[in-house]
Amino acid sequence: MKILDDEKDKLLNHEYDGIRELDNHMPLWWLWLFYFTIAFGVGYMAYYYLLGGPDQHEEYAMEMAEAAEKFKMDEPEEGAPSFAWAFSDDPDVIARGQEVFMGMNNLCFTCHGNAGEGLVGPNLTDDKWISGCSAEAIATSIITGFPDKGMVPYGSGAPLPNEDVNALVSYIGSLQGTNPANPKAVDEARAVDCTIE
Ligand code: HEC
Repeated sequence: MKILDDEKDKLLNHEYDGIRELDNHMPLWWLWLFYFTIAFGVGYMAYYYLLGGPDQHEEYAMEMAEAAEKFKMDEPEEGAPSFAWAFSDDPDVIARGQEVFMGMNNLCFTCHGNAGEGLVGPNLTDDKWISGCSAEAIATSIITGFPDKGMVPYGSGAPLPNEDVNALVSYIGSLQGTNPANPKAVDEARAVDCTIE
């Protein structure tokens, strides 16, 4: 076996099947990388375990809070809280409500029937209500929808301005006691008596 001069003092004192080993140093770049990982590990441990750095749940909560701030998610939509939901008997408002109800954008009629008699969704013309029958309760039903039952939230996904929601509320109010043909059966287990004044 040929051994170069400068390898002689690096040669380790063992041999296996003719294979010998030189005691080469690790390359400098490798060593620095190694020292860096040690320093990083110490810093990591100090920050997260000793100095109380945030864990992933806290980081998640912080990011969500930041986003809530940035996108103003905590603040109610403009005008929403102060809107005075009320059944209007102004024929123009009621006509607007009917227009929205029958409109192709919102499709209320496809689930509640052309006359509000109910189909997939409940009858809106009787005095049995699942989610309340005050102007505010009906507005809330419309705005938040019932996504698990198929009714989308009209307050966000397909936004309706508050004026249109109130027009719908007024239109639904005007349907009370109209007794349309083919009314959908009342969901006796859930609907309760509620009369729109
Ligand atoms: C895809 C079908 C569908 C569409 C479209 C739909 N709804 Fe509904 N709606 C439902 C269902 C189903 C319920 C019953 C939810 C439940 O069981 O609690 C409901 C419930 C309601 C209620 C509450 C009824 C009660 O008894 O408390 C109101 C008010 C209402 N919808 C109004 C509307 C209006 C106004 C629109 C259009 C802007 C609309 N819905 C569009 C399916 C629909």
